[in-house]
Amino acid sequence: MNFLLEKTTDNSRARAGVITTDHGKIETPIFMPVGTAGSVKGIHTRDIRDDIKAEIILGNTYHLYLRPGIDVIEKAGGLHKFNGWDRPILTDSGGFQVFSLGDLRKLTEEGARFQSHIDGSYHQFTPESVMDIQRSIGADIMMAFDECTPGDADYDYAKKSMELTRRWLDRCFKRFNSTEPKYGYSQSLFPIVQGATYADLRRQSVAHVRNFDANGYAIGGLSVGETEEEMYEMTEVVTADLPQDKPRYLMGVGTPVNILEGIHRGVDMFDCVMPTRNGRNGMLFTSEGIINIRNQKWENDHSPIDPNGTSFVDQYSKAYLRHLVISKEMLGAQIASQHNLAFYLWLVKTAREKILGGDFVSWKNEMVLKLKHRL
Ligand code: GUN
Repeated sequence: MNFLLEKTTDNSRARAGVITTDHGKIETPIFMPVGTAGSVKGIHTRDIRDDIKAEIILGNTYHLYLRPGIDVIEKAGGLHKFNGWDRPILTDSGGFQVFSLGDLRKLTEEGARFQSHIDGSYHQFTPESVMDIQRSIGADIMMAFDECTPGDADYDYAKKSMELTRRWLDRCFKRFNSTEPKYGYSQSLFPIVQGATYADLRRQSVAHVRNFDANGYAIGGLSVGETEEEMYEMTEVVTADLPQDKPRYLMGVGTPVNILEGIHRGVDMFDCVMPTRNGRNGMLFTSEGIINIRNQKWENDHSPIDPNGTSFVDQYSKAYLRHLVISKEMLGAQIASQHNLAFYLWLVKTAREKILGGDFVSWKNEMVLKLKHRL
C-alpha cells in the first residue's frame, strides 16, 4: 500500500491524496461505509460501488469472528470473496466493539475476555489473536487491538489505558511482522492513537505509534462522550504530530459537519454508522440540511428527497419515503441508507475537489452552516 499526498492547503490542514492498495485506489479524503457483519446493511455491493461510489468499506473483527466464524470466511477465500466486494476493505480490531460490551467483558494485560452478545459464550481476544483473525478475513487495512478509552475518563485511567494500548501495539506489530497474508495480496496494519482528552497523553501516544513505520495512523477514542470542541482540539493535537506523508483515519466520526471539520484539521479517512443507522430511523442528510422524514410536514411533499442528490434513490418523493418509513417497509430503510451514504460520499468528493481547486475553507464554512440547518 502507498499514499501519494497530492495537495495541501495554505489556510487549513486539509489535504488531498491517493491511497493505492492491491484492491484498487482510494482518493482521499474518503468516507468508508460500515459493513459490520460483512454487508453494508440493506445495500447491494453493486449500489455501493456504482451508485454510492464508495471506494472502501469497513468490516468488524468482533462480529465476523462470532458470526459466521473465521473458518467460514477462510473457506470462502477471505471476506472479499465471501461478500463479493472486490475493492479495498478495512477491518476494525474489536477494540471498540468489545469495550462497548460493558459488563460482558474484562480487560487484562493479556487481552480482553468477553461474552458473545449473541449466545453468551466466552471468548478471549489478544493482540496476537486479533492479528491472526484479520489475516484470515483478508482486510487490506487491519487495525491494531486497542482499548477505546471513554471520553470522560479521568487522567489516571486515560494514562493507564493509553499505556496498555501501547504495549498491545508492540505485540500487534510483532505478530503482524512474523505472519504472512493468506490470499496473495498485501495487508497493512494501522496503529491507533489514544489518550482521551489529554493533550500530553495524545502526544505521547503519537510519539509511540511513530516508532513503527506504518502505512497509516488512526485516531481513536473520539466521539465517545467528550464535547465536540474537545474532539476537534484533540484531532488538531494529533494531526500536528503525525507524519505528513501517511494517511490519517479518524475512527467512528461522525456527522457531515464533524467530517468537514476533521478534513480541515488534516484527517484523510472517516467511518461512521450514522448515515445507515440514522437513515433507518428516518433521518436524512441532504445538501440543504437535515430532514426527519417521519415529520408530518412531508406527508404531501411530492418533491424529490434531494433535488441535488447523486443517487438514483433521490428521485423518490419525500412523501413516498415518509410513507415507507412510517409503515416500516424494508424499502424505506434501504432508500434512506442509500441516500445518506451517497450524500456522505458526495460530501468528501466535493471536499477533495475544493482542496485541489484551492477554495476548500470558504466552501467548508458555507456547507457547515447549511448542514446544521433542520428543514
Ligand atoms: N471506533 C471508534 N473509535 C474507536 C477506537 O478508539 N478504537 C477502535 N478500535 N475502533 C474505534
